[in-house]
Amino acid sequence: MSQTADQFKKLVAHCKEYGFIYPSSEIYDGLSAVYDYGPNGVALKMAIKEYWWKAMVQLHENIVGIDAAIFMHPKTWKASGHVDAFNDPLIDNKDSKRRYRADQLIEGYMEKLQAKIDREVQKAAKRFGEAFDREKFLAESPRVAKYVAQIEQVRQRLAQAMTAVDLGALKAMIEEYQIADPETGSRNWTEVRQFNLMFSTQLGAIAGEEGKLYLRPETAQGIFVNFLNVRNTTRQKIPFGIAQIGKAFRNEIVARQFIFRMREFEQMEMQFFVRPGTEMEWYEYWKAQRMKWHLALGTPADKLRFHDHDNLAHYANAAVDIEFAFPFGFRELEGIHSRTDFDLKNHQELSGKKLQYFDPELQQSYIPYVVETSIGCDRMFLAVMSQALVEEQVPGQGNTRELLKLHPALAPVKCAVLPLKRNDEQLVAKARAIFDVLKYSFDCQYDDTGSIGKLYRRQDAIGTPYCITVDYQTLEDDTVTIRERDTLQQERIAVTRVEEIVRQRVDMKSLLQKL
Ligand code: GAP
Repeated sequence: MSQTADQFKKLVAHCKEYGFIYPSSEIYDGLSAVYDYGPNGVALKMAIKEYWWKAMVQLHENIVGIDAAIFMHPKTWKASGHVDAFNDPLIDNKDSKRRYRADQLIEGYMEKLQAKIDREVQKAAKRFGEAFDREKFLAESPRVAKYVAQIEQVRQRLAQAMTAVDLGALKAMIEEYQIADPETGSRNWTEVRQFNLMFSTQLGAIAGEEGKLYLRPETAQGIFVNFLNVRNTTRQKIPFGIAQIGKAFRNEIVARQFIFRMREFEQMEMQFFVRPGTEMEWYEYWKAQRMKWHLALGTPADKLRFHDHDNLAHYANAAVDIEFAFPFGFRELEGIHSRTDFDLKNHQELSGKKLQYFDPELQQSYIPYVVETSIGCDRMFLAVMSQALVEEQVPGQGNTRELLKLHPALAPVKCAVLPLKRNDEQLVAKARAIFDVLKYSFDCQYDDTGSIGKLYRRQDAIGTPYCITVDYQTLEDDTVTIRERDTLQQERIAVTRVEEIVRQRVDMKSLLQKL
């Protein structure tokens, strides 16, 4: 197993062992690509949502929030283009009966070419030793140049085929590049066909097409259909935004990599309504803002990058992803899309309601253009967890510890109160009394179920920034030791100072002030 696959396996196991994420309905062997959040998981997820909501709604006077229903009038999805165009190209392997996304098979082929480049680099580094100049080698090696050209050619063909929805071209590429079933090696493929990703269900007792409802595949449409309501009730002037956090559902053909691609997931989306012609300025503004939001958490800059879309979604005239270096490579974490007036225009047409804005400066009405920021809450969760989980040598000791280096504002438990000995009534009573005061300020945990060393390790593994230890000196002078998770430094402080010290670091305010 490669180091990264091993790392990823450890992360998945850690999430389960420490109550972050469980497979859904596990007693029935789980449900493919559906997961449940455990006690620590729900706390971390809520903190991520709070950080996003405050950054969007609380910090911007011109952004307001809504919470729209998951079920929407079926015409919504006709207007948005999802009924006709929210498809993935599907291909089956006739021998293995396995189902794949044709574009992902081709992307896998490109990754193999990239792996060949990486191997050339490794070989050369070994050959030249200390004198090896990576950049020079990449620029001058004829073999590398050949692979780079091949990747670029495949990338262009794929983008063209996807944009033109040319299923025959995708099949031709799979045949030409001799792409095999990754699981079995078989090249016995069906034709490529379109697969709509929306889940459908029936409304009440109405049978057939008339009662057909969809589970929303994005939260954005709940915002578009409420554009007039929000505008009329808040008197916001353009430019202004509407933010929403909520569940979305997609019948993904291939849903893998844990919570990265799920069939039920949560989105945090914001639609920013602007004057037509100014959308590219706002697009650049939101690109910068969103990157800042990620960096403020302390994520190293080299783990995040922008990636312009090669093929645009049916509604966009510009689109970029913020990609994160997940354990399985750089992948999309968030999308920023310039959606033009596509959605409002189509809703206006199909509903017959005027979805326009009267601009007092221009003295004219128009359908606003929209710049959208859209991030998956679960994907953000995975990014945060994979960045935070480390195994490190305990300074001055021979052993290692598993540590979740979460930003303190996101940590599920902000502070643990631990008596030095669990069977000493006085210590337990004092520790409980301290806990009973602190619990009103932030999420605290009282624990006396093991030796102090064990209790520290347990808190490290769930990312608790501070542990407060109550010992015999506490009974004499009302002081405790406060242990900092990352540095392991312990300081003796008065009980009365605990709240203030912990609050300083765990308060979301410090995070928001960086934006
Ligand atoms: N409203 C625009 C929209 O939905 P998208 O790129 O399809 O755009 C936005 O999705 C974000 O939602 C992605 O960047 C990703 O973080 C998250 N997302 C999309 N599909 C997902 C899935 N199947 N599982 C988990 N997260 C997903």
